[in-house]
Amino acid sequence: MSEPLVLGIESTCDETGVAIVRGRELLVDVTATSMDEYARYGGIIPEIASRAHLESFVPTLSAALERAGVRLTDIDAIAVAAGPGLVGSLTVGDSAAKALAYATGKPLYGVNHVVGHLAVAGLAAEQLDGKPGMDDGPLPKEFIGLVVSGGHSHLAHVRDITRDIEVLGATLDDAAGEAFDKVGRLLDTPYPGGPHVDRLARAGNRKAIRFPRGLAASKDRNRHRYDFSFSGLKTAVARYVEALRAAGEPIPREDICAGFSEAVNDSLTAKAVQAALDTGCDTIVVGGGFSANSRLRELIRDRAGSAGISVRIPPLRFCTDNGAQIAAIGAQVVAAGLDPSPVDFSPNTAMPLAQVLI
Ligand code: KG4
Ligand code: ZN
Repeated sequence: MSEPLVLGIESTCDETGVAIVRGRELLVDVTATSMDEYARYGGIIPEIASRAHLESFVPTLSAALERAGVRLTDIDAIAVAAGPGLVGSLTVGDSAAKALAYATGKPLYGVNHVVGHLAVAGLAAEQLDGKPGMDDGPLPKEFIGLVVSGGHSHLAHVRDITRDIEVLGATLDDAAGEAFDKVGRLLDTPYPGGPHVDRLARAGNRKAIRFPRGLAASKDRNRHRYDFSFSGLKTAVARYVEALRAAGEPIPREDICAGFSEAVNDSLTAKAVQAALDTGCDTIVVGGGFSANSRLRELIRDRAGSAGISVRIPPLRFCTDNGAQIAAIGAQVVAAGLDPSPVDFSPNTAMPLAQVLI
């Protein structure tokens, strides 16, 4: 018998994503985003995001079904992001998923969106939309997960992605993407700043300016072995820029971004490799919007490679929020035989990483 057909629905923030998978095979993945509306505000406006989900959901679902040549009645199970995320966005997606489950009589699984950022690396995707396909095989059962986005920077020991995730560490203040967005604002890049700071950093000299690494003091090194802190670094960058501005000197944006990016990525990669060595895991899986960062992708491969550890990072288009990540973790949960979520579940805006299913 073939594996179940799972519909995945993502609506935690500004992306409405719908995807369909069968086992590890991604049949279709469609995303609508309201990000373009936020450039003029310099940040996401939750009410606009909720309304955009409401408007995009049916067209996105219809497009996904049509492109995959699948009818709603062919779907075996529905997975929807139950958290963490914005309450309005989650409520729209979860209500839509509940209505679909009710209308079709199919089981509904409210899954953790952040776990989806890791699960997506195990999919096999054909060449869709002319973009590169992916298939590095299934994920190993046990691995170190590094989830980095605008809202999260987590290190986790995954023993079984459907039910056994131990959080080893997290950021004590800003997430990696958030720190990049703030430095972008400081240097007057468009919103969100992350990709712009990454681009400027590539043109700069990483060694020209050395910014401090968070939690590097000896008292913090053991207590916060797997934690991150980026707010002191962000302040150091702000002071550096302010001093130059006060002196009327030019701002070397490329070198500042390169030095800043190096400090963030040095911490992320050193701690991820350390966690793999400490736990005896031979694989690190990286996910989340910040895993699009070019220096992160390069440095983690270098450092893990030197330690004999393999690295799995999804292609760029699967790093930012998408339906495929929800369908991917949904398919795993269904395959593991876990019980569906209660039909009246409420989204959890602060769903912890260790909780895979609501
Ligand atoms: O996972 P995501 O799409 O949304 C959540 O935060 O859940 O991540 C978006 C974050 C933003 O902060 C964005 O600036 C950052 O990822 N980002 C990047 C890059 N691409 C996206 N940060 C640094 N370098 C990039 N290339
Ligand atoms: Zn995300």
